[in-house]
Amino acid sequence: MKFTLKNKIDENELRQVLSLDRQTYVADRCVSFRVCNAWLKKNPEIVCALKLNEQVVGFFSFLPLTERAYAKILSGEMNECDLRAADILPYTKNSEISCLFCDIVIQKEFRDAEAIIHLTNQYEKLKNSLAKRNIKIKRIVALCVSKDGIKLANRFGLKFIKKNKTDSIYEIKY
Ligand SMILES: CC(C)(COP(=O)(O)OP(=O)(O)OC[C@H]1O[C@@H](n2cnc3c(N)ncnc32)[C@H](O)[C@@H]1OP(=O)(O)O)[C@@H](O)C(=O)NCCC(=O)NCCS
Repeated sequence: MKFTLKNKIDENELRQVLSLDRQTYVADRCVSFRVCNAWLKKNPEIVCALKLNEQVVGFFSFLPLTERAYAKILSGEMNECDLRAADILPYTKNSEISCLFCDIVIQKEFRDAEAIIHLTNQYEKLKNSLAKRNIKIKRIVALCVSKDGIKLANRFGLKFIKKNKTDSIYEIKY
């Protein structure tokens, strides 16, 4: 299948991303268009979309956070829906960042197939692009709300930290 990847999504793609989000997650774990658009204005590279024939069929979010926001996510006090643009950092050359990996979704009919390989490759590409800008990732936290999410966190080398009511929290430090 002829998939394409977008590392800077436009507003139309954002609407499709959020529609997929709403089909997948419970309502109180879906970020609004207004909030996510404000995040993207702060850092346009935080959502990577997988497309097939102009339709978004998958995506993931990777958010560089302020240290304060990172600590609240790691402790389980906050989840991605509590984040505002002020909690998100732009990518700045020669810096160190702590990031949240969250909200990965592939449309049902494309799961357990090549789509996840494309998204994983895009994630590696993003990390390589950051390394080229001398942006060092210090640590990554992931909020897992499903078995599929936990499987992915383990595959990405993250370690279990704790569980709260809704999430299993995983982290990797570099
Ligand atoms: C999470 C999600 C994106 C994972 O996508 P998926 O297509 O189900 O992918 P899986 O992780 O199950 O991987 C499918 C297979 O591809 C393999 N695979 C994954 N990435 C690979 C890669 N980069 N190279 C080679 N093989 C790979 C896996 O090992 C797996 O094989 P296995 O079943 O024999 O172990 C998808 O299940 C989904 O959208 N789920 C609903 C939303 C959700 O729960 N998100 C996580 C919230 S925390």
